[in-house]
Amino acid sequence: MFFDRPKDGERALLVHCDFTQINSLLPGSKKVDIVSSIDHKLIISEFSELASSAGADVVEVYKISRKIPNSKFFIGSGKILEIKECVRNEKIEIVMFNHNLSPSQERNIEKELNCKVIDRTGLILDIFAQRARSHIGKLQVELAQLDHISTRLVRGWTHLERQKGGIGLRGPGESQLETDRRLLRERIKWIRQRLSKVNKQREQGRKSRKRAELPTIAIIGYTNAGKSTLFNSLVKESVFAADQLFATLDPTLRALEIPQFGKVILADTVGFVRDLPHKLVDAFKATLDEATEADLLLHVIDASSDDVSSNIEAVNNVLEEIDASDIPMLQVMNKIDCLDNIKTDELPNHEKVWISASTGEGIPHLLSTIAKNIGGAYWKGKLTLAASQCKLRSKLYSSGAVLAEEISTFGDFILEIDFPKNELIRLLDTEGQILPSRN
Ligand code: GTP
Repeated sequence: MFFDRPKDGERALLVHCDFTQINSLLPGSKKVDIVSSIDHKLIISEFSELASSAGADVVEVYKISRKIPNSKFFIGSGKILEIKECVRNEKIEIVMFNHNLSPSQERNIEKELNCKVIDRTGLILDIFAQRARSHIGKLQVELAQLDHISTRLVRGWTHLERQKGGIGLRGPGESQLETDRRLLRERIKWIRQRLSKVNKQREQGRKSRKRAELPTIAIIGYTNAGKSTLFNSLVKESVFAADQLFATLDPTLRALEIPQFGKVILADTVGFVRDLPHKLVDAFKATLDEATEADLLLHVIDASSDDVSSNIEAVNNVLEEIDASDIPMLQVMNKIDCLDNIKTDELPNHEKVWISASTGEGIPHLLSTIAKNIGGAYWKGKLTLAASQCKLRSKLYSSGAVLAEEISTFGDFILEIDFPKNELIRLLDTEGQILPSRN
């Protein structure tokens, strides 16, 4: 990776502001107290978790109330002095803001505190960089990181130069800043080229999987829910665990045998976080493209967490943002080994399975529920057959796929279908027909 990773155990100070009168900024709008609708305690505890999972050692947390952000320091200059004192006394190495700072605010604060400053986007990008598992995901995240720092290059990012071997690299008459900008442009160009090549290969892989009619199941969920543990546990159980074809192409994909169903592709994905900064949606979506095209999502939930319902909501919001909210989904309540009793309250709309990815408890039930749901991923819609396709028409009738039929003005059969998608694909394939996109 192109960046200096924050060192593990770096002493961090976190800053979270609650802005009491943001809405009063709008001309003519009434002053609205927005604090009551936001759970700042939850937000701060999630921010601390994010900072820790980026490797920081959280030493101090500042919760600051302000009416509106300050244009120079984001927070007030009095608070900056207070934090400066703390940075000195507590030997703080990095200050993290739970907000998106402008490049000049970040620079001003850094200069004033004389220590490294990172904003929320920078922190989430850093976590994505650690977690992105596929080659394409890593490239996408790096591109987003480069985009993020390109506006912050004024101070000279000496580590860009270090990365490339130092002083000898500088062009004639180039300042440090010019060198950094040039390195950045070259790197961005290189990543774009790699991405377009890898995208083509990936598209090819996806097409051959479609040809082989292998449905894809994607494991998604809030960060730390246990996705990778479940992925490894399912792969270990499978007779196809050693299937190197997919493993070498992409470490996040494996072929898996689901009893009473057959072979599927299982995809592991990067963890979701709350309130994804908008400019990261594309990078995140790219690391999730297996999920956006999956036939079934396994939404892994840490059932032992205090924030179960808000974590579920955070994941659902992101799914909506990446246009994946209508994919069939199973809720997998994980870590039941940490629970005294299982709460069986119903979560609406989705089937729920209780498991422990660590101990393996509940995994057989999960597999049979997957078989039922993936087989039960229904295709509903209208299928138009030419008058000459009577063989296919009778096959569809005899397998019970047809709900109703009309004849078009031109004599075509318009069949109303409601049938398991995979079986339908197989039936159509026997007659050389492909399934039209959902209507
Ligand atoms: P991200 O990559 O951060 O999104 O995490 P993840 O969702 O892939 O979680 P991961 O599998 O890395 O597990 C997170 C932590 O939870 C690890 O310390 C696991 O050992 C632990 N864990 C996962 N499943 C279980 C479980 O069933 N029971 C218990 N007790 N711990 C679990």
